[in-house]
Amino acid sequence: MAVMTIEWRADTVRMIDQRLLPAREVIRTYRDYRGVAEAIRTMVIRGAPAIGVAAAMGVALGIKGTAGAKAKKRFEVVAKALKATRPTAVNLAWAVDRMERVLEESDSLDAAELFGRMRAEAIAIYTEDVAANRAMGQFGAELIGDPATVLTHCNAGALATAGYGTALGVVRAARDAGKKIQVFADETRPFLQGSRLTAWELHKDRIPVTVIADNMAATVLSQHKIDCVVVGTDRTAANGDVANKIGTYPLAVMARRHGVPFYVAAPLSSIDLDCPDGASIPIEERSGRELTEYGGKQIAPKGVRTFNPAFDVTPAELVTAIITERGVAYPPYTESLRALKSRR
Ligand code: MRU
Repeated sequence: MAVMTIEWRADTVRMIDQRLLPAREVIRTYRDYRGVAEAIRTMVIRGAPAIGVAAAMGVALGIKGTAGAKAKKRFEVVAKALKATRPTAVNLAWAVDRMERVLEESDSLDAAELFGRMRAEAIAIYTEDVAANRAMGQFGAELIGDPATVLTHCNAGALATAGYGTALGVVRAARDAGKKIQVFADETRPFLQGSRLTAWELHKDRIPVTVIADNMAATVLSQHKIDCVVVGTDRTAANGDVANKIGTYPLAVMARRHGVPFYVAAPLSSIDLDCPDGASIPIEERSGRELTEYGGKQIAPKGVRTFNPAFDVTPAELVTAIITERGVAYPPYTESLRALKSRR
């Protein structure tokens, strides 16, 4: 499928501007880490694995022209700026820390060699993400019936990753295995990742997709229209509590109420064993203007109070299984996730 989310080209980072989709397909080009950090903060690029890749590429741009002690000093500044952009998706910090480990091992390199090494690592993070998504797709596709209708929330597709997608990777793999698959996509207020992005990329990929408003999920579940729910995650804690786009938790409650399996597609880069449970996951709060304005139009009274948490936490007890690139984890997650993470 020809969706370019992010790429490294001629020592610049290029991204499709996801704020403008589906109306316009505009590619932005970044030459320094500040631009990349701003792109992450303002949601030009979003989705946990995608912002991890962007951060790694941002680090490579940031240390360009430096070596030795100067590179380490520069890294501190660059890492701080990138990590401050969005707190919930652990992939971002994971990718920056991985770049730091390469820097630590590169003391003897000159500036050109170091840049080459950091660039190679950022591109490896990109390539490994696509491979992880494909592997997750294979494991996940076995959980999907034929025919099947999958309900998803937010966008956990090619646009949220280096390519192929996590939750939508499972859908794609099931389709590629010959299964007759269709998707119901929650529109995902307030940023509309479901209706703008999930519907856009599935439609492009000729996978049948039906957009519903978030408050219609209980109705389609109660009408037995849905065989399973598959979502992505920004950070999954050691006990299997899952942080994902706001509105995921109610979906899991509704799925349980209607006896529908609730699956999470989680690359290992998004599983944080240092977080014991969901309560220790930092939840980003975004500007209230995302609620009171849309497309430059006022849709709630000016000056009204708002509360705009970007993510919620689904307790592990509501999660049927967690699909990773090394296999499928089942409860108790404290054991199964640790076992998958430590397996080589
Ligand atoms: O605020 P966003 O759009 O970055 O939130 C994205 C999500 O919540 C996705 O579901 C999650 O990152 C998983 S993407 C593979």
